[in-house]
Formats: sequence, C-alpha cells, structure tokens
Amino acid sequence: MSQPFRIGIAGLGTVGTGVIKVIQKNGDLLALRAGRPIEIVCVTAQSKSKKRGVDIGGYRWIDDIPAMADVDGLDAIVEVIGGSDGPAKALIEKALKKGIHVVTANKALLAHHGQQLSQMAEDSGAGLAYEAAVAGCIPIIKAVRESFTANRISAVYGILNGTCNYILTTMRETGCAFGDVLSEAQAKGYAEADPSFDIEGIDAGHKLSLLAANAFGTVPNFGAVEMTGIKDIQPIDIAFAGELGFKIKLLGIAKFDGKQLVQTVEPCLVPGQSPLGSIEDVYNAVFVEGDFFETPLLTGRGAGEGPTASAVVADIIDLARGHKIPAFGIPAARLKVPEYIDSSNIVARYYLRLSVLDEPGVIADLSAILRDLNISIESMIQRGRDPGQPVPVVLMTHKARFADIQEACARIDKLRTSIEPPRAIRVEQDL
Ligand SMILES: NC(=O)c1ccc[n+]([C@@H]2O[C@H](COP(=O)([O-])OP(=O)(O)OC[C@H]3O[C@@H](n4cnc5c(N)ncnc54)[C@H](OP(=O)(O)O)[C@@H]3O)[C@@H](O)[C@H]2O)c1
Repeated sequence: MSQPFRIGIAGLGTVGTGVIKVIQKNGDLLALRAGRPIEIVCVTAQSKSKKRGVDIGGYRWIDDIPAMADVDGLDAIVEVIGGSDGPAKALIEKALKKGIHVVTANKALLAHHGQQLSQMAEDSGAGLAYEAAVAGCIPIIKAVRESFTANRISAVYGILNGTCNYILTTMRETGCAFGDVLSEAQAKGYAEADPSFDIEGIDAGHKLSLLAANAFGTVPNFGAVEMTGIKDIQPIDIAFAGELGFKIKLLGIAKFDGKQLVQTVEPCLVPGQSPLGSIEDVYNAVFVEGDFFETPLLTGRGAGEGPTASAVVADIIDLARGHKIPAFGIPAARLKVPEYIDSSNIVARYYLRLSVLDEPGVIADLSAILRDLNISIESMIQRGRDPGQPVPVVLMTHKARFADIQEACARIDKLRTSIEPPRAIRVEQDL
C-alpha cells in the first residue's frame, strides 16, 4: 500500500466530527479511491475535554492552533473552525506557506481573503480546496471550476442558504410570522443561536462571491455583494405572492457580461412551479448559465453534518490523488477586477405592496407617481373595502429600473394616504 495521506483536523464541531465519522466508517473505500489510506494524525479545537460523540483518543491533540502546521509529515490540514480572521486564518496561512494542502469549509474566510490565499497556495505548490464552503453536498465548485470550463458563464444564481429557505417555506405553509418561525428553526437546530449571518443574507453573500469568482474568473469580492435579508418578509407578502402564482425565495444572483458584474442577495418572487420555486425547506439549488449549455440546476442539502463532511472528504481524496487546481480555476494573479454595478441599475419586474387609506383618488395618486417614473403596471390587487381605513394594494409592474422603483416608493411613502412604507420585491420571472 502507498504512503498514507496524513491530515490534521482543526475544529471538532458539526463538520469536524462529521469528517472523522466518514473517515472512520468508510476508511477502506476512501483508501481505494484515493489510492492511499487517509490517516488522521492530529486534531484541535477549543476544549480538549468536551465530549464529541466520536473517538479521538488515537489522534494527537494540538493546543496551539497554528502549531498544527508544524506537525511533522502532514500532507493536509482540514480547517473547520470558521471565522473570516483569527485562528482559522493564521493556521491556513501558515500551512499554505509551508506547502501543506488545505481543505476548508470556511466561506467567510475565502470570501474576504480568497485571492490572497489562492496566491499563497500557488506560490508554495499547495492545494486549497473548499467544496464544502458552498451549498453543502452540491458539488457546485467542482462543477463550475472543472466541468463547465468550456463555457463563458454569464450568470450563476440560486438558493444558497438552507436556514432562510426553511423559514420562508414554513412561513408559507403555516402563515406564521418570521419571528415565530425563526424561534422554531432555532429549536430544531436549523438556525444558529445568533442567526444574523443567515437571515441578513451574509452567509449567502459569502457563497455567492465564491461562486462568482469561479464562474467569471473575477476576484472574489464579498464587499461588492449587496445583501437584503428576509426578516422584513411578512406573511401577507407570502400570501399575495401565492395568489399571483409565486413563492418568495432568498436568491443569490451574480451576472457578468465580460466587463460589468452585479452581485445581489435578496428575497425575490419566483414562479411557484418553476425549478427554483420547487426547492423547499433546507434545500439549496444553484443554476449556471453558459454560452454552450442549457442551465443545469444542481440541488441538495446545503448544510448539516453529513452533507458538509461528505464534501470535505471528497476534497481530501482529490488532494490525496494529487489532483489540485488553482483555488478559483485560474491563477490568482489573472483573476479580473470587474466593474461593479449596483442594484439600482437592475431592470426587472417588481411586486409592490402598499398600505393606503381607502379613499377616493388614492389609486389615481399612485398611478401618477408611477407614470412620472415610467413604471407601468401589469396587474393590481386591491383587497377589501373599508372606507377611511388602511387597505393593502398590490401592484405587479412591468420591467423597470430598480432606482425608479425606489424613487416611486419614496414618493408614495410621502403621500398622506400611505400608512406604511411600500414594500418592493424583485420578480425573477424566468428562473
Ligand atoms: N455546520 C454546517 O452545516 C456547515 C456547512 C457548510 C460550511 N460550514 C462551515 O464549517 C466551519 C465549521 O462549522 P461547524 O458548524 O462545524 O462549527 P461548530 O460546530 O461551531 O464547530 C466549530 C469548532 O471550532 C472550534 N473552535 C471555535 N473557535 C475556536 C478557536 N478560537 N480556537 C480553536 N478552536 C475553535 C470549536 O471548538 P469547541 O468544540 O472546543 O468549542 C468547534 O470544535 C465554518 O466555517 C462553517 O461556516 C458549516
């Protein structure tokens, strides 16, 4: 048998213990596929005494995290601590400088420092693999970086956060408010105690910036992702969307025309029966548009111990086989800096929900504002009659520039008859 591929695992939480379980259970199979045994040499985490649910007695414990890179004869370090800076970054940098391969699930770190880390890996000849960082068990990084390489890719988009998809699915099914569904998701372990990265769209933004870099050959730039989360989505919007044949999904969308790049994470209306509209609960799904293929939809569980560990171990096998390519598919120094376009330039249909007093002349005032901004209305729902009281009015627009939609909302909000700030949600009709 060939020399073992010797690894250290930094982080023994959900993903780290999952990786150990996979290697302990499927060791024979992994050795066959990798052409050599995968041997866990050392591990580290914050607490040495914590019960982990896996036997780590046979592995050397490392107290000082970056010191793992000094362990003799390590081929790869698996970093599953997390965080865009701190010990995870210190360890990865040290390992890459020494030519030790790195496998990580850390999207935050790569979204912030991806180009620099990719360069370090290239300089020392190390591999930097991170399939688990984006969409769990869906092999989307490999697909974009290795399988779709014949194409110029113009768009990559999808449902990139399972927690948000679970919350939106449950809100639709139960009619419950966001806060109640979030509490239930936390109780079930689908949402973190601090859910802000998920519900504010930050986690999806990290993943989108990595997908965009691989798809377009541009520098990963999380700072250029515009993010709107889901906490302002109300049951009434989900219900109206349903009446109109749509579902609300948190979408990450990156579009590139060879020069200009727009990256957004925001709740959107998608046709309820479309492939994306059918992705429910904690599932993720990613579409890619290239010039020589239809748009394949890849879907699967985006997080959790098994799916994430499975993706981490697949990367370990690749490296053990000697398979490594630049982290973003092309040399780090060749990654382009595109012209970033902000969302005000996006042209799309919009769902507008207004809360206005039920009085004569209100619809005429709204129509005048929209007319002045060249926004035409495709359909309107006005529910209930309650003279003098607030009633909801929903407008579906034809395609309009988001800047004009924002201006219309600002003008409507100033009307005496407008009771709540208007709510605008982008409609992605063709997804
Ligand atoms: N969970 C998922 O489904 C999933 C999916 C995709 C990607 N990821 C990514 O995978 C990484 C790990 O996620 P996870 O869910 O496994 O996290 P987790 O369950 O919170 O585990 C984190 C581990 O890192 C250790 N750790 C934290 N801070 C540390 C520090 N300062 N020094 C040393 N060790 C430290 C913890 O030690 P103790 O156990 O001793 O406290 C724990 O073992 C993150 O980058 C995450 O974004 C996770």
